[in-house]
Amino acid sequence: MTREVKKAVFPVAGLGTRFLPATKANPKEMLPVVDKPLIQYAVEEAVAAGIEELIFVTSSSKRAIEDHFDKNYELESRLELDGKYELLKTVQDIVPRGVVCLYVRQPEALGLGHAVLCAKPLVGREPFAVILADDLIKSDGAGCLSEMVKAFSYHGGSILGVEEIPVSETDKYGIVSTTLLDERISRIDAIVEKPKPDKAPSNLAVVGRYILSPVLFELLEKVETGAGGEIQLTDAIAELLEHEQVLSYRFTGKRYDCGSKLGYLQATVEFALEHPELRDAFREYLQAIPDADILLTRQQ
Ligand code: UTP
Repeated sequence: MTREVKKAVFPVAGLGTRFLPATKANPKEMLPVVDKPLIQYAVEEAVAAGIEELIFVTSSSKRAIEDHFDKNYELESRLELDGKYELLKTVQDIVPRGVVCLYVRQPEALGLGHAVLCAKPLVGREPFAVILADDLIKSDGAGCLSEMVKAFSYHGGSILGVEEIPVSETDKYGIVSTTLLDERISRIDAIVEKPKPDKAPSNLAVVGRYILSPVLFELLEKVETGAGGEIQLTDAIAELLEHEQVLSYRFTGKRYDCGSKLGYLQATVEFALEHPELRDAFREYLQAIPDADILLTRQQ
């Protein structure tokens, strides 16, 4: 089996209920952090990792995602006419040359595992990445997926991105128990979906970055409805552990859970503080809210 990863699956067919009403007609993945939608950060991370085929698992209410990665002739010709070449480049370079976008529909939001299975005909029999765009990862280096692709080229098998979380939050994540192999790499011995803190085997949580063996598709086809009435990716990975090596990778960088309002706000503030056009004015603005304390006290 090849140890190259050239395809990435972006499941974007969820309902985004934690962000209603913003996500009633707009996909959660199109929420902007400063000036770029979440899905674009995810695509940039994939392209930086050498991915050449971007496979989006969408639904009928997610057309804005296809439009975002398509050419917009009217906008481009207007920007050109107005001499706004920098903006023109910004919209033309969203997907670099040589990288293709493919779309497949998930007819019903039956869970992340089901969404990944919908990509099977487009992935075929090769290892593939899965990126959940609502987990935004800020990296000082090459990017989380690049690190994982590198680890995969050495170890093969399947690799899940993990991070330590507060024990009180284990019931929001897939939690793994592991045996340490290297500084950042461990062998996964067991995985459970959303265990209660007193039942969790550790506080090591799987976040939205995976490199998966195509064998997973066969297992997903047999998985039954699990936690929350959904077809869970975690259940198929638990089965995969019986057949093949699955590793965990502690990535560098900081993850923001942009599927939650708090995580989204944290990402917005921290990305704005690093944005070349905004950082000075925004820092000044934040510093000038002493009054934030007073405001907060008044509102209680
Ligand atoms: P989440 O559970 O975080 O997203 O799924 P959600 O269901 O859209 O949001 P909430 O919980 O209701 O607020 C993780 C990822 O899996 C995708 C989502 O789009 C998200 O990127 N997903 C989830 C699907 O593509 N299909 C599904 O059936 C479920």
